[in-house]
Amino acid sequence: MGKRPKILVVGSFVMDQIATTRVVPEEGQTVLGKTFHKAPGGKGANQAVQMARLGADVTMIGKLGHDANGKELLAVCRKAGINVSEVLYDDTEATGCAVIILEVVPGGSTKNRIIVIPGSNMTIQPEEVAFLKDEIGAYDLVLLQHEIPMEINEIIAEFADEKGVPVMLNPAPAAQLSRKFISHLTYISPNEHEAAAMTGIKVHRENGFNLEEAKVAASVLRGFGVDNVVITLGESGVLMDTPQGIFYKPAVPDVNVVDPTAAGDSFVGAFCTRICMGDGYGEALSFANHTAAITVSRMGAMPSLPELHEVEEFIRSKKEQ
Ligand code: RIB
Repeated sequence: MGKRPKILVVGSFVMDQIATTRVVPEEGQTVLGKTFHKAPGGKGANQAVQMARLGADVTMIGKLGHDANGKELLAVCRKAGINVSEVLYDDTEATGCAVIILEVVPGGSTKNRIIVIPGSNMTIQPEEVAFLKDEIGAYDLVLLQHEIPMEINEIIAEFADEKGVPVMLNPAPAAQLSRKFISHLTYISPNEHEAAAMTGIKVHRENGFNLEEAKVAASVLRGFGVDNVVITLGESGVLMDTPQGIFYKPAVPDVNVVDPTAAGDSFVGAFCTRICMGDGYGEALSFANHTAAITVSRMGAMPSLPELHEVEEFIRSKKEQ
């Protein structure tokens, strides 16, 4: 394995409130659920924690409220070894939180529905990240998502591009991107819904996803100006279109999906860590698939993100099967 990469995440902190239920309520309906969990999350912080647990040297910048949720999120990030010295605080807004409904499908995969209330995440100001204009040159990669103001993402991507630092965008939740923002990206990793929202190309499910449609969506995204497009396709695996060609890795078989929340975060965090460590794309995609497979087999976002030794053991055990 290569060097310990230095990765910057500018993104969200969110405290998740998770209800599991067999029945998702219709309009006006009340149902009795099964369990309730509270767990730290947020796409930015999840990705930062995943990379730190896999051995990267991670700095996380985001905005918290002065409240108990903010304290807990910061403590988990610190415990993972993340540099949180530049984390910002909002004096009036609360720390972001989310309501997650986990639909437990008997004999099938659990499905999630998520509502994020961004709170302090959406109050980051350009002047609060201006110091990164020079400092960003010290990083091997910058990782962004869509749970902070788009203006901040655009500024950070431009700073990184100016210094020749690669930028990965995990475009979740789906949003329209400016041409200028896209021009600063090195990698983009949408799931099939986000790829459809950006390209208008729906990747249909037949037996698994239609890979030809995924290839078209990826090539349209490349046509927008992002060289490397990674489309995650859930149980159908992952497709990557690059100037070196197309890579495809199937999902890890026989995984018991307890909670799919943060699967994408775990995948993109693992992929970024491994390409920065020198893995080829095929190797990094496979490693990231295995990392995400562990994540979905456990409850909660951050609590489910595996450590490096767990991923290595899991890969060994799958090879032996
Ligand atoms: O990607 C999963 C995350 O999305 C959850 O942790 C939730 O906080 C939302 O941000």
